[in-house]
Amino acid sequence: MKIAVLGTGMVGQSLTAALLARGHFVVIGTRDVATTLAAVEPDTFGAPGFALWYRRYSHVPVVRFADAIAQCDVLINATRATSILDILARVPRATFEDKVLIDVSNDLDFSRGLPPILRITDVAGSSVGERIQTAFPLARVVKTLNTMNAFVMVRPELVSGGDSTVFVSGNDVEAKKLVQVLLREFGWDDIIDLGDIATARTAELLFPLWFKTWGAIGQKPFNFKVAR
Ligand SMILES: NC(=O)c1ccc[n+]([C@@H]2O[C@H](COP(=O)([O-])OP(=O)(O)OC[C@H]3O[C@@H](n4cnc5c(N)ncnc54)[C@H](OP(=O)(O)O)[C@@H]3O)[C@@H](O)[C@H]2O)c1
Repeated sequence: MKIAVLGTGMVGQSLTAALLARGHFVVIGTRDVATTLAAVEPDTFGAPGFALWYRRYSHVPVVRFADAIAQCDVLINATRATSILDILARVPRATFEDKVLIDVSNDLDFSRGLPPILRITDVAGSSVGERIQTAFPLARVVKTLNTMNAFVMVRPELVSGGDSTVFVSGNDVEAKKLVQVLLREFGWDDIIDLGDIATARTAELLFPLWFKTWGAIGQKPFNFKVAR
């Protein structure tokens, strides 16, 4: 597949490396290519600056967000939730026709330090997944992978030998099937389809529990398992 990874942080880096390893063609989207290619400072959680990561992946095109979107049929939102609607709004609406948009974001406010505040509530339309789908009805939005860290996303075997759960939400059945193919390529087996994009809210609301659990167990990789 030809996949645009929108985002150059630890999630964008992790997903790009995993997709390349499985033979996909990846284009990375960013705001300002020169700034991103020069970024050496680690992020809040210590992930290396993009420039250091990119030394190993310098064959991957890094282009502006709009150019990455235009070039690919599958888009992954690995940006901050506050910025994605603006990023997408810079592209002509018709561009989104039939594109699958995989949203792995959480709407977090870090302005008051840690823990970040989750902005969404259990009110219809408040999740990032729903907001993207409403604003860009031609895109086929699928929410997934937001309930674990960037490394577990693409290496489920890091936790309990891979015996944990990933959720998907979305209105388009075919788009969810395509996303499940990618998830299985990453090694996911227990994939729960929660239903339409409104169910993205339930997955996004898991973040406070995820963050507290992460602290309580010593910041080790972990994931949720739906035991049944
Ligand atoms: N980190 C994790 O383990 C994890 C786990 C689950 C879900 N998530 C979610 O995945 C997403 C990516 O997380 P992350 O930790 O990789 O990176 P991040 O630091 O949250 O976001 C990095 C990306 O967001 C873009 N961005 C930031 N501010 C922007 C603005 N004002 N306008 C436009 N773009 C902006 C950056 O663009 P530039 O490239 O131009 O700098 C960069 O590509 C987030 O929504 C996060 O909540 C993260």
